[in-house]
Amino acid sequence: MSALKIAENIYWVGAVDWQIRDFHGYSTYEGSTYNAYLILDEKITLIDTVKDKLYDQFISNISQVIDPKKIDIVISNHTEMDHTGSLPRLMHLIGKDKPIYCSKMGKKNLSLHFGDSLYYIPVADGDKLSIGKRKLMFIETRMLHWPDSMFTYLPEEKILFSSDAFGEHYATLKRFDYEVNEEELFRQFQKYYANILLPYSHLILKLVERIKDLKLEFNMICPDHGVIWTKHIGKIMDLYVKWAKQKPQKKALVVYDTMWHSTEKMAEAIAEGIIKEDVEVKVMSLKAWHRSDIITELMDAGGMLVGSPTLNNNMFPTISDFLTYMKGLRPQNKLGAAFGSYGWSGEAPKKVEEFLKEAKCEIISSPLKIQYVPNAEALKQCENFGKQMADKLKEIC
Ligand code: FEO
Repeated sequence: MSALKIAENIYWVGAVDWQIRDFHGYSTYEGSTYNAYLILDEKITLIDTVKDKLYDQFISNISQVIDPKKIDIVISNHTEMDHTGSLPRLMHLIGKDKPIYCSKMGKKNLSLHFGDSLYYIPVADGDKLSIGKRKLMFIETRMLHWPDSMFTYLPEEKILFSSDAFGEHYATLKRFDYEVNEEELFRQFQKYYANILLPYSHLILKLVERIKDLKLEFNMICPDHGVIWTKHIGKIMDLYVKWAKQKPQKKALVVYDTMWHSTEKMAEAIAEGIIKEDVEVKVMSLKAWHRSDIITELMDAGGMLVGSPTLNNNMFPTISDFLTYMKGLRPQNKLGAAFGSYGWSGEAPKKVEEFLKEAKCEIISSPLKIQYVPNAEALKQCENFGKQMADKLKEIC
């Protein structure tokens, strides 16, 4: 992917990562991009870098526009190494005495990553930096997605460089939102929110209010992953507010794994009980679905029923993996219930329930346990279990 002019004297000079399939536990089956932006002004300014392994692609893109050594200033909006991995080599190339502007926490975190030999200049929220005809404005956005995160805003062109926020993991040769498949784009956009930003939803709501208070207008939002937004700016703002509020919907997820298909039979009967009450349900086996796709579905579900067989007096390892991941993302306003088949000890459903409670789910019923293979009567119990969830969802949604 070559450098691309996105506005007068402003270029995309990032890198496309077609092959990445796992991003710290999140399945990125459409790959990703690491976006970096070059502004040609009296002081030539680079915003962010890319993963170290894509350094050559990045330098080649900058070189299509200018000699990289001519860069005067680097802005680091976020320390995570998908955006700074190339920073040490870049600074070695362009001159280690050139300034790297970052947040106060960015200075600390960059030092902890790359040592103190680089020239970090911390900026505060609202600070402005003249680079010639343009004046950059910095907006602190702590925890979106790390404590060091910030945005850089270009008032003259109304362009926001938003770091991780408003991104999506989506490798494409196209750079703008109106050029790609809209359905796939928004699928990846939602998945990114669910797996990266969900725990910080309260901060997203504050950020949107802040943007309103500052009366910021946008012609373009340039995140560090995926496409540049121009056509859908209003829609992505609205979606962030909707997702951040986490209002429960009349939809349930049945998430399970199974050893000899008994917990699976229970899951299907539970789903049947939910469908009969005219409530939307999705059945997701951990053999078929990646944890990060389940979290994406969970965003608008009001209820979650989690089923695990008992293995060696404990829950199934895939269920433990899913619950650990889910709890860390801190979904809000969920109803929960646990179920599972067992042979002789049957600890798993209770352990699942404990996890759901720790994740702040409201438990709607005691765990449902069936010994060995569910018979017709047991399957009826499962249907009723599903009905309980459906009734509760209809009551609150
Ligand atoms: Fe894309 Fe938090 O790094």
